[in-house]
Amino acid sequence: MKHVQPNLLRHAIAMLLLTVLFAPAALAQGADGGELGETTYMTVCLACHQMTGLGLPSVYPPLVEHAPTLLDYEGYREYIVKLTLYGIQGEITVLGNPYNQLMTAQEAVLNNEQLAAVTNYVMHAWGNDALLPEDYEPFTPEEFEAYRGLGLTAADVYALRQELGIGAAE
Ligand code: HEC
Repeated sequence: MKHVQPNLLRHAIAMLLLTVLFAPAALAQGADGGELGETTYMTVCLACHQMTGLGLPSVYPPLVEHAPTLLDYEGYREYIVKLTLYGIQGEITVLGNPYNQLMTAQEAVLNNEQLAAVTNYVMHAWGNDALLPEDYEPFTPEEFEAYRGLGLTAADVYALRQELGIGAAE
């Protein structure tokens, strides 16, 4: 008994520490990306897509009223994950306006948690949440892990966009 109790106590302390260390990160995210999603957006995506999510005319496309429409296409999850990991470049039309600039790859910049949180942030911010399909499931860090290390280029992601017919109706 004398040997068991200190071990149990150590175990209990370890579990408590784990809960304290990891719970805030998990809670911070949530379906809308939470604080982690917002700070990641403000540090990385804002430079191009702007604070308002409206982008810059003819240079950076808006995410407002656009990001959730990507979910209408089959294969969208793979596309969105690859888009943020590897970037994209090619002629696209967003809400009736043409764009053809480089979106930089984030694979080496952001970890899986940040990528999932920022994607969920973009899907919810600026009223985008009203446009989400009913069966929408938030992105998870595991989905980003699954497509890491493929060595894709921005042109490859553009080819995937074409192949899936994303934006074809615009
Ligand atoms: C260096 C500027 C830049 C940064 C940083 C950037 N983007 Fe982009 N983003 C672009 C450009 C440019 C396009 C359009 C690409 C094209 O013209 O082919 C784009 C397109 C998009 C699209 C629309 C894709 C489509 O198929 O219509 C989404 C969604 C998106 N970006 C999300 C993000 C998120 C989330 C971040 C932050 C993790 C981010 N972007 C960071 C420049 C950027």
